[in-house]
Amino acid sequence: MEHAEFKKYIDQNKDRFLSELFELLKIPSISSDSAKKGDIVRTAEYLKEKFEAVGVDKAEICETAGNPIVYAEKIIDPSLPTLLIYGHYDVQPVDPIELWDSPPFEPEIRDEKIYARGSADDKGQLYAHVKAFEAMTNLDSLYCNVKFMIEGEEEVGSENLGIFVAANKEKLASDVILISDTSMISMEHPSITTGLKGLCYLEVEVTGPNKDLHSGTFGGAVGNPINILCDMIASLTDENNRITIPGFYNKVVELSAEERAKIATAPFSEEIYKKELEVDALAGEAGYTALEQLGIRPTLDVNGIWGGYTGEGAKTVLPSKAHAKLSMRLVPNQISKEITKLFTDHFLSIAPPQVKVKVTPHHGGEPAVTPIDSIAYKAAENAYEEGWGKKPIPTKDGGSIPIVALFKKELGLDSILLGLGLDSDAIHSPNESFGVNNYLKGIETIILFHKHFALLNK
Ligand code: BES
Ligand code: MN
Ligand code: MN
Repeated sequence: MEHAEFKKYIDQNKDRFLSELFELLKIPSISSDSAKKGDIVRTAEYLKEKFEAVGVDKAEICETAGNPIVYAEKIIDPSLPTLLIYGHYDVQPVDPIELWDSPPFEPEIRDEKIYARGSADDKGQLYAHVKAFEAMTNLDSLYCNVKFMIEGEEEVGSENLGIFVAANKEKLASDVILISDTSMISMEHPSITTGLKGLCYLEVEVTGPNKDLHSGTFGGAVGNPINILCDMIASLTDENNRITIPGFYNKVVELSAEERAKIATAPFSEEIYKKELEVDALAGEAGYTALEQLGIRPTLDVNGIWGGYTGEGAKTVLPSKAHAKLSMRLVPNQISKEITKLFTDHFLSIAPPQVKVKVTPHHGGEPAVTPIDSIAYKAAENAYEEGWGKKPIPTKDGGSIPIVALFKKELGLDSILLGLGLDSDAIHSPNESFGVNNYLKGIETIILFHKHFALLNK
């Protein structure tokens, strides 16, 4: 089948491809909000219907202890290679809602971009796979056997998917995992993600006096938990922005000069980056470039901090408690559980006697790297070369998809991270968007991946 035929099919059906995605985007499937359980179920049912409509052999909703997994497959010939396509239909919360220019679950197109929560992360990207599959089956040219596994808990740690994968190894048997849930450098510079960071997420609670106190009659004499928490957090990084937790860097591999030189060849302008974010300077560990911070160095960030009085006007109070949520992004060889322990031991050890400290771990995940000497990587490279006229650049991303490491561990399979989004899509932020062209060109690129993967496996 000539690729032009696929292009024609996509062009003729693009309005429907968009309206079906819009229906998916209208359902507020926020996994962290238990009140949205009905919407989660509706999203899974919608996807199952859509899989049935594009001619899979079977589509099923697999219940878990949490949100359902949608599974579908079409096995055309056991002698052909099999792709396992992973995506997630759950989305992040929408707050701060007042910063959205249009309601997050009423998708609309402005400047050739689809604005909606989940448009890029990950509904738009996963639905591109469904429509690529439709084009191939309708044009009678499916190149590979296909299995789809779409989960509803990625944004909250994929715990139940991990259990499902371990219990269904035979069902999920395949040659490679294909995922579109990352971003590429730009429309001019297609890229393939070859590394994802791990994650260690914790919450801390610092308690001082047994109740909120008057900050005049008690201030100074009694330790203020917010002041103390700020001191403790500030001490977690030194003047070179290195993380001070003992043992934190023990397993971090230093990259060779050659590998660092390779990273530096990726098209990236610090000037444009700063301008887009409206910051005058970049931060980060001394001795490493911004791209290195993002791709290969572990980081520590406070995600939220609260306590005391934050309402209107002023209230003079010495609070009883202070809280923060912190995350560390991990690089290869660092292990989430070990880092959790290092952090906890250290954080408790630096607490001054004026306060009591509690550390509660949230979800975590391991980093992942994907090889670039595999058939699957070559197929992805060929797909971009044919579709975009350019060789894609391998990049390392700062984001995390913990299930990728688990796929390797449980199924022994590498993943190909065929990201269709852009860093400017504002995923997790107000006004998340996904380019109409990213979607349509993405469908094309996916088809080309199927084709080249089948060809290289012949
Ligand atoms: N799709 C993102 C991860 C991502 C985005 C990787 C862009 C690379 C580039 C995913 O949905 C996500 O948000 N993951 C979370 C971790 C998860 C355990 C909540 C993250 O990275 O914060
Ligand atoms: Mn995602
Ligand atoms: Mn996400």
